[in-house]
Amino acid sequence: MSFLNASAMTGGYGAADILHSCDITVEQGQIAVIVGPNGAGKSTAMKAVFGMLPLREGSVTLDGQDITGLTPQERVAMGMGFVPQTNNVFVSMTVQENLEMGAYLRRDDFRSTMEQVFDLFPILREKRRQPAGELSGGQRQQVAVGRALMTEPKLLMLDEPTAGVSPIVMDELFDRIIEVARTGIAILMVEQNARQALNIADRGYVLVQGRNAYTDTGEALLANPEVRRTFLGG
Ligand SMILES: Nc1ncnc2c1ncn2[C@@H]1O[C@H](COP(=O)(O)OP(=O)(O)OP(=O)(O)O)[C@@H](O)[C@H]1O
Ligand SMILES: [Mg+2]
Repeated sequence: MSFLNASAMTGGYGAADILHSCDITVEQGQIAVIVGPNGAGKSTAMKAVFGMLPLREGSVTLDGQDITGLTPQERVAMGMGFVPQTNNVFVSMTVQENLEMGAYLRRDDFRSTMEQVFDLFPILREKRRQPAGELSGGQRQQVAVGRALMTEPKLLMLDEPTAGVSPIVMDELFDRIIEVARTGIAILMVEQNARQALNIADRGYVLVQGRNAYTDTGEALLANPEVRRTFLGG
């Protein structure tokens, strides 16, 4: 069984289902990427995995344990970290305060984790006393990722971490995400930059209208003529 096993997830926000029997799995130390058109249900699938969307059908297991009925907060305690697509930093709080907020569930000394985050993103150490709202888009995304890392997650979920950043900053952030995966953490990431994201993905999911349209290794999806034509611009 996979480390994260989201199976046959079906549900939505009201009467109509957005997700239709959607499956997502992630292995420890690997990067899984969800791509697909706007409105395909990528963020909804992330919310479902994190417990922010009630499922009408389906289940989610983490490390072999059924967590389908758990709240997001309980899932954080079980080892899930989630960076949402929008409003993912507290703009009026300093960088350091944002990271401390990430550790709110911890009762132990989290200073060494903060040092690890600063080692991963050195610019955050430099700017730790500045309000996060004064940082560039790419630096804010580092704060958001860093905040999620403060709980020492076993699964890190990122919804469009490179939204609105330059190609250079995107490459840099992807390198850091690879570095995080190498420490054994499982990564589940939604990305608009589909080609570049699939390039670093062990596993890729193309979601269309809430359904799994294509699932394969990142490499195989990039080589699939139909996926290329329909979703990757040729
Ligand atoms: N809070 C909500 N209440 C009702 N409907 C919603 C809500 N959030 C999203 N939806 C609808 O669910 C569908 C899927 O949206 P979702 O945000 O999951 O797509 P997405 O693939 O993440 O899109 P994007 O690429 O724009 O981020 C869309 O039709 C959207 O309008
Ligand atoms: Mg989205």
